[in-house]
Amino acid sequence: MIISDDNNKNIKNKGASNDAPKCKSQDLEAKEVDFDKTYEKNIRPKTFEEYIGQSALKDTLKITIEASKKRNVPLDHLLFYGPPGLGKTTLAGVIANEIGVNIKITSAPSLERPRDIIGILMSLKGGEILFIDEIHRLNKVAEEILYPAMEDFFIDLTTGKSQSVKTMRVPVPKFTLIGATTKAGALSGPLRDRFGIIHRLEFYTIDELAQVIKRSAKILNIKIDDEGAKEIASRSRATPRIANRLIKRSADYALVKFDGKIITKQIAKEALDSLCIDNLGLDTTDRALLELIINNYDGGPVGVETLSVALGEDVRTIEDVYEPFLLQKGLIARTNRGRRATKLAYKHLGIRYTEQNGQMGLFD
Ligand code: ADE
Repeated sequence: MIISDDNNKNIKNKGASNDAPKCKSQDLEAKEVDFDKTYEKNIRPKTFEEYIGQSALKDTLKITIEASKKRNVPLDHLLFYGPPGLGKTTLAGVIANEIGVNIKITSAPSLERPRDIIGILMSLKGGEILFIDEIHRLNKVAEEILYPAMEDFFIDLTTGKSQSVKTMRVPVPKFTLIGATTKAGALSGPLRDRFGIIHRLEFYTIDELAQVIKRSAKILNIKIDDEGAKEIASRSRATPRIANRLIKRSADYALVKFDGKIITKQIAKEALDSLCIDNLGLDTTDRALLELIINNYDGGPVGVETLSVALGEDVRTIEDVYEPFLLQKGLIARTNRGRRATKLAYKHLGIRYTEQNGQMGLFD
């Protein structure tokens, strides 16, 4: 594989360890490609019991929900943050279902004009949940409208123009806001302070993901054995959304190549190899990113903007989608001068690490 960066240096893949050749970049964030919407809906857990993982958060939520029921007040506003695909929206749906209220789902980029947020706040009924995805992208005006709504359940509406402008204080029903973000640090202080619970969603363990996979497979009528589920789990970047996508892809592979038999470890392995997903769950872009740091920048540090240009991925995708898992796996480290590949990254790619130049040479 040859990639050109902005300096027109060629970057050679020095023998990525365990993947098939000619692996093209795939869109990790192609959230629901090929996923039949009704199936997608059916596999979403609806209760805490069905929802696997995030046990510390679930425990906190169960107590908060029970307390709010006992006090007969709406649930405190909640902020969930963490990498995409870990189940922030799903959990908001579970909470609504457990409380027995309706949930309205929107995302900050679609609340562009003041009337968008005002309209949605005025349409809520008492106790309902408003879910705002990507809440760090809320504009200043929408934020200002939201503050009194969150705190005291009213909004200030202005009518008229210039000298004759009038402000009217209008009550809104008592609601619970659930905000979700991949970037808690990008939220303004005043907005963050108005959430009663702020919680990070954690990456899933292989065991948890194997449970998610077996549950989804059952609903989708896909046969899979324990080892097959574990193989998919270990290549799913610790992320249920990806696990659910890979079951479908493995089922397709099993159907075409093996007459639809049960997904075994071997079938899962072949299917995922064919998708260029390696034994750690890295795809072509992950490996290209590591190779770029190692081969072109002596292991780093290198700025994310440079990586973005060289890979042709936008900075946000690198920061939100690729980096969190590479950091979690200890394959890259963040320094204040940029990203650095760790020794583990060299080892994974089969590139020898030397202290003098950070790299050089292949493993024998
Ligand atoms: N599907 C996606 N996320 C899930 C989870 N946390 N538990 C069960 N099924 C899921």
